[in-house]
Amino acid sequence: MKKVIFVCLGNICRSPMAEAMFRELVRKKGLEDKIIVDSAGTGNWHEGCPPHEGTRKILDTYGVDGAGLIARQIRKQDLEDFDYIIGMDSENVKNIKNLGRLPESAVVARLLDFVEDSKTKDVPDPYFTGDFNETYDLVKRGCEALLREVESKLQ
Ligand code: 4NP
Repeated sequence: MKKVIFVCLGNICRSPMAEAMFRELVRKKGLEDKIIVDSAGTGNWHEGCPPHEGTRKILDTYGVDGAGLIARQIRKQDLEDFDYIIGMDSENVKNIKNLGRLPESAVVARLLDFVEDSKTKDVPDPYFTGDFNETYDLVKRGCEALLREVESKLQ
């Protein structure tokens, strides 16, 4: 069993997109019982809210199930509970590390660190860029690469 949490700033644009897309990939591989997926934000402004309309639309466009996504803020306990704590950008990773002590076994990285040839390592925030297509393409590549990594570590 491996547990993966995606983390961005507000938990309404990038990390819920990654959660839904990664869960879909996990489901397609029949690994739902072996890989748990969640997401959270480092900020608390959108606690209890569904994803941004742009994220909901792009998930719909690509037929990815985005039902049940509700924003929440990351908690210290998440650092203990998850094996992979995946930030969307460097700022997210910095904030995750400032939350508290991390177990030695935890992997904390940016999503695009798993994509060797990615020109950018930070997933642009469509809350500010307005470009949900660009973010979707990068998140897709990141999720595919991350799943290969997580799968290789399953017992
Ligand atoms: P996200 O985008 O971190 O990808 O969910 C943001 C959403 C909301 C805000 C910032 C970023 N905000 O400042 O409210």
